[in-house]
This record gives sequence, C-alpha cells and structure tokens, in this order.
Amino acid sequence: MKPYFELPPDVAFRTRSFAPGSDLPRTDEGVLSAVGHTPLVSLRGVGGGRLKVYAKLEGLNPGGSAKDRPALNIIRAGIAAGHIRPGTVVVESSSGNMGIGLAQACSYLGLRFVCVVDPRTTGPHIALLRAYGAEVEVVEHPDPETGEYLPARIRRVREIVASVESGFWPDQFSNEANSASHRDGTMREIAAELEGEVDYVFCATSTCGTLRGCADYIRDEGMSTRVVAVDALGSVIFGGPTARRIIPGLGSGLMPGLLRPGLADAQVHVTNLDCVVGCRKVARREAMLVGGSAGGVYNAFERMQHELPDGALCVLVFSDRGERYIDTVFSDEWVFHTFGDVSHLWETDDERVAAWT
Ligand SMILES: Cc1ncc(COP(=O)(O)O)c(C=O)c1O
Repeated sequence: MKPYFELPPDVAFRTRSFAPGSDLPRTDEGVLSAVGHTPLVSLRGVGGGRLKVYAKLEGLNPGGSAKDRPALNIIRAGIAAGHIRPGTVVVESSSGNMGIGLAQACSYLGLRFVCVVDPRTTGPHIALLRAYGAEVEVVEHPDPETGEYLPARIRRVREIVASVESGFWPDQFSNEANSASHRDGTMREIAAELEGEVDYVFCATSTCGTLRGCADYIRDEGMSTRVVAVDALGSVIFGGPTARRIIPGLGSGLMPGLLRPGLADAQVHVTNLDCVVGCRKVARREAMLVGGSAGGVYNAFERMQHELPDGALCVLVFSDRGERYIDTVFSDEWVFHTFGDVSHLWETDDERVAAWT
C-alpha cells in the first residue's frame, strides 16, 4: 500500500484539537480523526442516589478501546522523532487492544505491523488484528523464571525488531506518549465535560498509561480529584499475592516504566470473577456490554462506594466493549467451566429495578 508520508506531518498526524472552541471534528485523517472524544454517560445502578456516577465509554473509540489513543500518539511521536519512516516495521507486545489500536493506525498510514500475543489473547482479538492487516505471532510459553507471558513476549519483540532493517518498538509500558494521550485526551475530556467538578476517577491498570495520564492532568491543573487504580489480583503493579490472571488488558506481569509513586490515591484488587460479575451487572443494570477490566472497575466501585462522601461526583473509565468477550465473560458455558455455578452472583441482582424507582 502507498504510504501517506508525502503529507506534511501536521496534516497527516493531527488529531482533533481538544482546546475549547476548536473541537470541530476533523475529517482529513480518516478514521484516525475519530480517536478520542468518547461519550461520558451517567450510570443508574450504582451510587444509590447518593453519588453521581458517570462512565467514560472508551470502547467507542473507532478501534474499540482506550488503546486507540496511546497507539495513535505513540506512532505520531515516533514519526515526529524520525524513528518511524516509510518501510519501518512496527512491532509490539499486546494482549489485544493496544495491538488493535496500532493495527488501525499502521494500516491507515501504510506501515507493516507485527503483534506479539500470548495464548490468553481471545480469538476475536486475534481475528480483529488480522482483519486490520496485522501479522500476529503467538508466544506459546511463559517466561520460565517468572511464569509470566509478558517478559517472553517482549523478548520476542526485541528479536523481531533486531531482525528487520528498520524496526520500531512502541514500548507501551514506558513510552510517555502513552500516558500523554490520556492526560491530553481522556482526563482533559472528563474535566471539560464535568467543568472540573470531578471527585473520583476509577481506572483499570495495565501499562498504567491511563492512571498516569489522569494523575498528571489532575496535578498539572491543580484539581483535587482522587484517582483510584483498579488492578488484577496477581498483578505486580501494586504487589500482593500471586494469582492466575485471565482477564485481558488488566494487570501486569512487569513493573510498568510509566508508574510513579503516589499516582493512585487508592488501589483496589479485583479477581477474575469480580470482573465477570461486574460485566454481567453492567449489562443488566445499565444495558451496556463492557469488557472484563471495565467489569472489574464497576465491581471495585460498587465495593468502595459506601466509603465515598455524599454527593461525590465519580467517573469510571470503561476501557473497552463487551463484544470481544462474548465467548468468555458473556458465555454462560465458559463462566461455568471457569468458576462453577456462580450465576446467582448477578441473577438475584434486583438493583436494576431499584434504580428505576
Ligand atoms: C481492556 C483494557 N483494560 C485496561 C486498560 C488500561 O490499561 P493501561 O493501564 O495500559 O492504560 C486498557 C487500556 O486501554 C484496556 O484496553
């Protein structure tokens, strides 16, 4: 495919401006101009009428997740720095969504993209990557020392980058263009929409790009918003006991380079089952299909809401949509096989009726 590099960089890689008064949609960079500006919607099934709760629907980015933002920003920064040129092969390790965001951006810009995944990556994620034209490599075995897939995936990324003439590793765990996309996008949009009156933001953690970006914006703007990080039990980010993690995109097996002490005002761990229960409750109460990590965020919020002061304005960042989890989180068979008979955890849930009265 013919690369788009003849276009001046400020035309080819400009995203929508978030500056007030200049947020008319841009159409001169095709699908990439639709990244960001996701809806913020109210939730009725949590908060008990005492709290105002909103969800930031990052799954409505064109590639289907929050990762569209860092993917685009990292590619733009790589081009601006001269690390990406026509013919460069972009190679990244991803459990799915970052890969899809990169596959989308690379396909639009005419760049070859190799995505290194592991066996936990869902079938739909892999099919989507391939549909965007990405090459997919599955690392079959975890790192023997840590038992984690991530070190093994990163080792493979380095090998591929070293084997091509011009290779670029976005390094989403350490690249500050990742968190900057959430600082200048996700959190800026939330603050603008709620006119700065945000008391709590709950977000899932993996690379910590979302957490760092939100925390950086809050600090830079002198806001008093508290950030609650929702991590997977068994993730190394905030320590704690080891556990097998099966929810894609939540938690990390390596300490993210983007993490800084004190970014989160509080952290909560969720189990795999917490995520499933959260997803099922969101579907029933809010009529929304959200992905596993968003279910974890919802579940964590539900547990913590009683500790929050009356009238607090809370935002839950929902990183992706549920369709990619239709064969897992939303499959009764998969849930039964994985956890046993747990449907009573949401089927006896009468709060959706309570939310209407
Ligand atoms: C499914 C999912 N969960 C959680 C996250 C948050 O991850 P990070 O800490 O890398 O910003 C993302 C990011 O887009 C995601 O796609």
